[in-house]
Amino acid sequence: MSLFFSEQMECFHCHGGYLMSDAARSATTVFDELTFHNNGLYNLDGYGAYPETDQGLIEQTGSAADMGRFRAPSLRNIAVTGPYMHDGSLATLDDVLSHYAKGGEGGPYQSLFVKGFELGDDERRQLLAFLESLTDEGLLTDPRFGPPE
Ligand code: HEC
Repeated sequence: MSLFFSEQMECFHCHGGYLMSDAARSATTVFDELTFHNNGLYNLDGYGAYPETDQGLIEQTGSAADMGRFRAPSLRNIAVTGPYMHDGSLATLDDVLSHYAKGGEGGPYQSLFVKGFELGDDERRQLLAFLESLTDEGLLTDPRFGPPE
């Protein structure tokens, strides 16, 4: 949890709040703005291009700066919702950590919060354990939230 909320890894800037997503609103929300981020998943041409199948917010605004910008998804129950990212291009949470550790693919539109970091084996295990702890087995297996009988 300390790693997740550290200025070194920056995860909490985009995945903060009660849903682990800054796209969620509550009475304590300070800034009333829609948040979208480019987390550096693609940089196909060196100028930040995303695959044409889904380029994020730019498809709505037509503004170049919105290339590859998406809402930060909630990390609740994240251990059971793979594969990850809007196109499922990262298979495991370990792949997600490798993506952020290397600092994304770069490009002019990538968020400055995705800047890369060193992650030792123990730290990687600890960060994965924290992400896995966000999964609520009790809720997931509660028949009241399952398919109707
Ligand atoms: C600049 C904002 C930002 C930062 C910093 C950030 N993320 Fe993300 N994260 C996003 C966005 C946006 C997506 C969705 C991208 C997409 O769908 O292509 C995402 C996706 C994810 C996903 C996949 C979610 C899913 O349901 O597919 C995981 C897991 C994740 N981030 C974990 C982390 C961790 C761990 C860190 C810190 C090392 C981190 N993020 C840092 C914005 C951020």
